[in-house]
Amino acid sequence: MTLLDQIDKSKLPTHLAVIMDGNGRWAKQKGLFRTMGHEKGSKAVQEIVEACGKLNISYLTLYAFSTENWKRPKLEVELLMKLLVASLRKEIKTLQENDIKLNAIGNLESLPKKVYKELLDVIKKTENNSRMTLTLALSYGSREELTKTVQEISHKVKNNLISPENIDETVINNHLYTQNLPDVDLLIRTSGEQRISNFLLWQIAYAELYFTETLWPDYTKDHLFEAILNYQNRERRFGKTSEQLKE
Ligand code: IPE
Ligand code: IPE
Ligand code: MG
Repeated sequence: MTLLDQIDKSKLPTHLAVIMDGNGRWAKQKGLFRTMGHEKGSKAVQEIVEACGKLNISYLTLYAFSTENWKRPKLEVELLMKLLVASLRKEIKTLQENDIKLNAIGNLESLPKKVYKELLDVIKKTENNSRMTLTLALSYGSREELTKTVQEISHKVKNNLISPENIDETVINNHLYTQNLPDVDLLIRTSGEQRISNFLLWQIAYAELYFTETLWPDYTKDHLFEAILNYQNRERRFGKTSEQLKE
């Protein structure tokens, strides 16, 4: 039986998020420039997006560039941005063929104009697709998102549009970049690092975390299926007891 056959299609994570890490180390191990790791990494993105679409995952969110990644050497940042434009242009076909809608979260206005324009273009072209929502986290940082949320809600309080007593979790949710997405069910991080790196702090409150040593450029469908199988063998209790779940 293949790994795919073993997956229970009725127990898939609704929202899968991935911290795609290890491109630089992959390249270094092979004596290549870091940028080659990013190029190979973008091929892995293609494979995983297609696999998730075929599997019927409803929401896939990929951490592609963090607010902190702006601190990297200028040349690396420039290449990552170029790669993004090239991938968006290339991927539009895969997105259309697989009925995938593109979405983006993060401080998008801080992206170079060319990237921003290309992104909006692909988002527009795929807006009527409905099999899966692919969200790219670009210039995304959870603390920036939460800060923006607090500012927006404070303005509403100041203008008497909402009273402080009425600020609840739903109000907060509705001000996040992820307002149209459900909570994350499974978060995968590749490359052996076991940290969150400012990704979706609010949204992963009850996510199952899965860490793997595999470097992102080496990540294949089968690695993804292994992670999903592992997820399906966990008991998600959400604060309740195991017995209560069986009632
Ligand atoms: C992930 O790979 C890609 C981005 C963060 C843009 P890295 O570039 O972080 O690879 P390592 O962690 O240096 O190996
Ligand atoms: C997290 O990876 C960001 C992305 C995968 C886009 P990093 O490689 O930037 O994370 P840290 O800095 O090592 O925690
Ligand atoms: Mg890294």
